[in-house]
Amino acid sequence: MTANHEPSSPSAKTWSGRFSEPVAELVKRYTASVFFDRRMAEQDIRGSLAHARMLARQGIIADTDLAAIERGMARIADEIARGEFVWDIDGEDVHLNIERRLTALAGDAGKRLHTGRSRNDQVATDIRLWLRDAIDRILALIAEFQRRLLDAAEAHADTAMPGFTHLQVAQPVTFGHHLLAYYEMTRRDAERFADCRRRTNRLPLGAAALAGTSYPIDRESVAADLGFEDICRNSLDAVSDRDFAIEFCAASALLMTHLSRLSEEIILWMSPRVGFIDLADRFCTGSSIMPQKKNPDVPELVRGKTGRVNGHLVALLTLMKGQPLAYNKDNQEDKEPLFDTADTVIDTLRIYADMIGGIQVRAGNMRAALAQGHATATDLADYLVKKGLPFRDAHEAVALAVREAETRGCDLSRLGFDELKAALAPVPGAAGRLGSDALAALTVEGSLAARAHAGGAAPAAVRAAIAVARAALAQANPIP
Ligand code: ARG
Repeated sequence: MTANHEPSSPSAKTWSGRFSEPVAELVKRYTASVFFDRRMAEQDIRGSLAHARMLARQGIIADTDLAAIERGMARIADEIARGEFVWDIDGEDVHLNIERRLTALAGDAGKRLHTGRSRNDQVATDIRLWLRDAIDRILALIAEFQRRLLDAAEAHADTAMPGFTHLQVAQPVTFGHHLLAYYEMTRRDAERFADCRRRTNRLPLGAAALAGTSYPIDRESVAADLGFEDICRNSLDAVSDRDFAIEFCAASALLMTHLSRLSEEIILWMSPRVGFIDLADRFCTGSSIMPQKKNPDVPELVRGKTGRVNGHLVALLTLMKGQPLAYNKDNQEDKEPLFDTADTVIDTLRIYADMIGGIQVRAGNMRAALAQGHATATDLADYLVKKGLPFRDAHEAVALAVREAETRGCDLSRLGFDELKAALAPVPGAAGRLGSDALAALTVEGSLAARAHAGGAAPAAVRAAIAVARAALAQANPIP
């Protein structure tokens, strides 16, 4: 960091009056946060302007001071946008850097800005403003991801694939139905972020250092000015808790966990051993030694970055757990995990929205996999039950039929009517209930069509679910 607009002698420290020796260089670097909290510069200026407007309305500073502060802040915002603002480690953090520059530009008016305020309520306000913006961005990106997911689900509402339990072929589903499971997960994720936003959207300013302030401030008007839904109602709590940031990291960890599961599936589906999908080349990389390789690096990194986001959640919880009221410098450590969580989630969602559209489905391979695991065995049991056989007997009879198919080295659905009947025979009442319509129940299409209830795997049910999802997305609450 280079020198700022002011000399960076130790005596230039904003709070240096009571100290008799300068802060050691290493300590200065160790305690500074300007390297990372300058990301909140825009929010810091927004918060300061709202505070200054309130001070002027309340007659705590003069209108001429407010005008000078507004002019100075406009210039600072411009310098930052142009990359001309000189960030100085002697200024410690984003708040003092901006305040010092303001004072250089606006003189005494700049020095009056901090009346009735502390960096403690200032930083808490900045983080909340920053996080509110980040949540809005994330909510928009989740919606975009969901739109792409629904497009893919619609295109594959009829594309049969095996559904798995224990990673063993279980019953037929469709690729569209499978994708809709992730729509549901991310819908809950969006609810969690929106809910977290409500608690984030509260104003700490006015709490000052910890106990409030002796000036005749008007907190409600600052809250309204900044678009906060309410004020923080206890000054000690306002400056010290970061639960809203922890909640955000928890919601992020869950979202990433869902995307990590989808990533794991994409990686498996893309393995030549499975061959259910192919991923567009732009999401894959080659190997530096094996010329034939096409690796699913992007989903692998999503899986990997989920560990990083989970780590940030634990970091913030640990940061908070031992802190006595009210503000402690520990809290300065909240920003990097929080910023990195938001950055990771935002990049992951952006890349995922595109990647979903870049999935090429190999329907033939999915269908072939379905023909290998007796996936419609349950349907044959259900058929016999509907003809009056108790379910446990039907289960046993079909197990015998599966064994027969295994002996012949074919799928259950490939047994002919007579073979099937013979296989069921040892279970009393089973073979006699087998009609010629049983073979239709054993087909993939028959199995799928039978599950047409809400939430089921039938193509008709998948289409109905997509319509409901699209309607919900279309009227998803625009952020207030
Ligand atoms: N940079 C500090 C933070 O991020 C700002 C608040 C500092 N307050 C204080 N009394 N040292 O938390």
